[in-house]
Amino acid sequence: MNGSSARTQWASRLGFILAAAGSAIGLGNIWKFPYITGQNGGGAFVLVYLLCILLVGLPIMMAELHIGRHGQRDAVGCFAVLEGKPTRWRFIGWLGVSSSFLLLSFYAVVAGWSFDYVVQAASGAFQARSAEEINAVFAQLVSSPGQVVFWQGSFLVATAGIVLGGVRGGIERWSKILMPLLFLLLLLLFFRGMLSPGAKAGLEFMFRPDFSKLTPAALLDALGHAFFTLSLGAGTMITYGSYLDRQADLLSLSVRITLLDIMVALLAGLAIFPVVFAAGLEPGSGPGLVFQTIPIVFSAMPFGSVLAVLFFLLLSFAAMSSSISMLEVSVSYLVDEKGWRRGLATMVLGLAAFVIGLPSALSFNLLADVTPFFGQTFFDFANALVSSYLLPLGGFSVAVYAGWFWKGERLQDELSGGKIRPWLYPLWHFLVKYVAPAAVAVVLLNQMGWFTP
Ligand code: PFF
Repeated sequence: MNGSSARTQWASRLGFILAAAGSAIGLGNIWKFPYITGQNGGGAFVLVYLLCILLVGLPIMMAELHIGRHGQRDAVGCFAVLEGKPTRWRFIGWLGVSSSFLLLSFYAVVAGWSFDYVVQAASGAFQARSAEEINAVFAQLVSSPGQVVFWQGSFLVATAGIVLGGVRGGIERWSKILMPLLFLLLLLLFFRGMLSPGAKAGLEFMFRPDFSKLTPAALLDALGHAFFTLSLGAGTMITYGSYLDRQADLLSLSVRITLLDIMVALLAGLAIFPVVFAAGLEPGSGPGLVFQTIPIVFSAMPFGSVLAVLFFLLLSFAAMSSSISMLEVSVSYLVDEKGWRRGLATMVLGLAAFVIGLPSALSFNLLADVTPFFGQTFFDFANALVSSYLLPLGGFSVAVYAGWFWKGERLQDELSGGKIRPWLYPLWHFLVKYVAPAAVAVVLLNQMGWFTP
């Protein structure tokens, strides 16, 4: 069962792009990006988020793919291959396995809401309804423990089912069909948003920066979200990179994944904020935002119910192509390092994610008043811990390793898949060696109050 020789590879380059983009594009783009943009005041936040993606996220994505592809092993075992001996750097893999697992546990809760919305939309719950009525649908859902847990569990069963099918059969095949469809539907919603009376206010909110809104916490949210949205710092891109062949051009792959990811997030924002302003909703209302706004758009459209079903189906799929990648990190660890059978590893880990996710699922109802972590519910705490601390820390460690310790100069050509780009290695190396670690350190220290008197 030990990795290297007969290791599966992606069936095609396009398949890899779609699967890696499938990992990147998920609830982070459509659920999280709009609501944290709303909470952090819009334009200036969006700008910092874009900068973090380009200067920090993109180089770290290349580093992770490079490490994985060179090691051809799971996120933990990879480092032993790179160093040629057992090494402490394994902790990066460990950190990734833990973060992606914790992330999966609460991600499944939100994805479960999306499953529920498919059924609600199909039963006409959003047809010709007012904003208040649609709000009530969301409030009713999250306050029902049984309903939330049922969908959280169903989502994990579906995720595990696809992971069981393995890299090619499961992940790659579905991504090819459903990702483009999601993109089309978002385009439709975007045009609809641009024609709505809230279009101007929505555009201004997203693109007119007001730097007075940039608190240290907003900076941390933007940086953390850059990692979250690109699936970095969680071992995912190392694992996915390990299924890539040596000729793959990591620069062009990473650029494409990143651009697709940014586009989907911006489209989602541009679909949602016009509705927020036209319907007089609160942009900073939090995790319910997409569930409270998108049904409003469909409610007033011809064939709205059908389109709403389709939208939440595709959102659920986008979530699944991300959750698959989270589960794959720990599954491939158990398979490559511990010799487990793939099927057993998938089932045990899926079940464990369900149990660990229960307190998050109950955070909106039975445990809403249980706030042992800095006054936060389990859900809020896990969400903040993963995005604002664990992923940036994982990304920081990858950058430090790749920039300072890995003898990567010899592998310059690997970065370009053999193409001649003399500028690429020095630029990439500069970004991972200095810019990325410094940015993470400054933002974290700033949040801890180091730079404020
Ligand atoms: N990038 C995913 C999203 O935006 O929804 C979330 C994610 C997936 C984060 C996989 C980290 C990860 F390893």
